[in-house]
Amino acid sequence: MKNIGQTFQYIRTYWKDRKIASVTPSSSFAVRKICGKIDFTRDNVIVECGPGSGVFSFAILNQMSPGSKLILIESNRDFYEYLRRHINDARVFVFYDNAINLPCIVKQLGIGVVDYVILGIPFSFTDHELNHKIIAHSKGVLRKGGKLIVYQFSPRIKKYLKQHFEEIHTGFELFNVPPLIIFEASD
Ligand SMILES: C[S@@+](CC[C@H](N)C(=O)[O-])C[C@H]1O[C@@H](n2cnc3c(N)ncnc32)[C@H](O)[C@@H]1O
Repeated sequence: MKNIGQTFQYIRTYWKDRKIASVTPSSSFAVRKICGKIDFTRDNVIVECGPGSGVFSFAILNQMSPGSKLILIESNRDFYEYLRRHINDARVFVFYDNAINLPCIVKQLGIGVVDYVILGIPFSFTDHELNHKIIAHSKGVLRKGGKLIVYQFSPRIKKYLKQHFEEIHTGFELFNVPPLIIFEASD
């Protein structure tokens, strides 16, 4: 659930960096819907790329088991520093990096495979090559039966998902500014 501090941090960061793509963090409706796709009854390794001020990260943290791990990869320095200041939990690893480097980060942590990758990065702002690689790299770290969850303002990323995954479910969250398209991809 987002709090006033997260929203304030978000607006301040947006003012400096329009590439973060939205003026406000995702809504609590979106957070609930996306977290509902995660099986919190078991130990998981979850990677979140583009956590921003952490609306999903905090909700995941509140629900995940003591044996789970959460890896956050954020390319905006202000958000990275905000997350470092506000998350103090041995299950969380925060990186100031680009989602493209996801496999190296996972390897560096000595983690074999990942259960869930959540991508909140604005794919409309990145080029074809990068979109393709980020989806391929996400699939590369997922265990068999693992899930890639992508939330976006536009359906543009679907064609990339189709190239890598057999099953793609599409959903929507209208109670968000702007409304979100949510893709859930697995094999
Ligand atoms: C639309 S915001 C979503 C923020 C947050 N997850 C939320 O829902 O409120 C996109 C975030 O992705 C980050 N981002 C953009 N491109 C990225 C990349 N290639 N790797 C990692 N983070 C990226 C931005 O800095 C920003 O924090």
